[in-house]
Amino acid sequence: MPATRTQLSQAYPIGSRIDQDGRLRLGGCDAVELAREFGTPAYIVVEDDLRARAQTFVEAFRARTKNFDVLFASKAFPCTAIYRVLAQEGIACDVASGGELALALRGGFDPARIYMHGNAKSVDELRFARESGVGHVVIDNADEIERLEAVVGEGPPQPVLLRVTPDVRGRTNDKISTGQADSKFGFSMADAPAAIARVQDSAQLDLVGLHMHIGSQILELEPFRLAIEAIAPLGDFGTYNLGGGLGVAYTAELKPPRIGDYVAAKVDAVNRVLGPGKRILDEPGRALVANSTVTLYTVQSVKRNVSTWVGVDGGMSDNLRPMLYGSVYEAQIADRFGGGTLARLTGKHCESGDVIVREVELDDPRVGDVIVTPATGAYGHAMANNYNGVPRPPVVMVSHGDARVVVRRETYDDLFARDVD
Ligand code: LLP
Repeated sequence: MPATRTQLSQAYPIGSRIDQDGRLRLGGCDAVELAREFGTPAYIVVEDDLRARAQTFVEAFRARTKNFDVLFASKAFPCTAIYRVLAQEGIACDVASGGELALALRGGFDPARIYMHGNAKSVDELRFARESGVGHVVIDNADEIERLEAVVGEGPPQPVLLRVTPDVRGRTNDKISTGQADSKFGFSMADAPAAIARVQDSAQLDLVGLHMHIGSQILELEPFRLAIEAIAPLGDFGTYNLGGGLGVAYTAELKPPRIGDYVAAKVDAVNRVLGPGKRILDEPGRALVANSTVTLYTVQSVKRNVSTWVGVDGGMSDNLRPMLYGSVYEAQIADRFGGGTLARLTGKHCESGDVIVREVELDDPRVGDVIVTPATGAYGHAMANNYNGVPRPPVVMVSHGDARVVVRRETYDDLFARDVD
């Protein structure tokens, strides 16, 4: 039998460890006990990890500029308790829909520090943003200019940013690349000058600067620099929102840039290319929340075919990313870290593609074992669904040995809750 691992991969939340009995501890809590107490599948969020990463972003900016704000791209983990923690850490917020706006307000964000995104905002969403006092609307397209002007009407002008696509892309999955010229997001470099002039002429809109976001899970810094260079010819603005996109370590092998290096690359490029003293906004989603969270599952079956299929009680309903993007995760047995059995970790859904980890080394997996997959905080809960009528998992926050449910598990009754007869 291979030696039990005592070193955790960087994919796990900060402060996680394997104790002397070989059991995973998260935020001071025993992972198997958490599974017993709250059931599985469950998202376990380590609160200190969330706070630490938020602080790292803010401190990295503060060390380099006085004029900045870090925005939580809340699509990554739209859950009231997460908004609340990040609002307490003093960061601002990006919302991409009326629903995310409602959650951000409930989570305690100052509306003046909320930025409203979306490539297809409805009149209702724009009205909601106005009525809530949202600080900035990020204009994506020409139709929206007219629509927002009508919503503003005779009221005070709405501060806006204009989203542009710099025609620079990072190496990432096509489905989450957004900086290329032919994108559904923002104005192309060719169309941007006219749109800028149009908004600058508007009596209802107050153009404070530009926004861009070139894509997500980007593991190199160069595309961020190139994108800043690319938008320089569009003019001189007071504020630049540089989007998010910093990749994270889903596995021990991935080596994302450090937050400090990412911030330095962006701030240095702005100072060098766009000029000193600019207000710099950054919009991390994944890099703030991904590694704060693990998912716990329970093994329901171990089937030895050509492969060894380890079937758990969740899958594509709580983590759509392997299915959508071919994303790779790590997995372990929460109280028996190690290897020895090459397995396929599969979900419970009625599709062959419902595989959580295609090739994983586990230590003799058995029915009843608690499995942990780290780095599920970003876009896990966010994209959870009820496929096969599977109730969505709870979100449990752990801190210094205490665990509290912040989103309860869905019930079968919830599955009927919207029926009208
Ligand atoms: N700002 C804007 C305007 C965005 O569209 C996004 C992500 C972000 C910021 C945050 O990007 P991040 O720092 O998280 O990379 N569901 C996909 C990711 C979609 C990202 C959409 N936009 C996934 O699971 O990988």
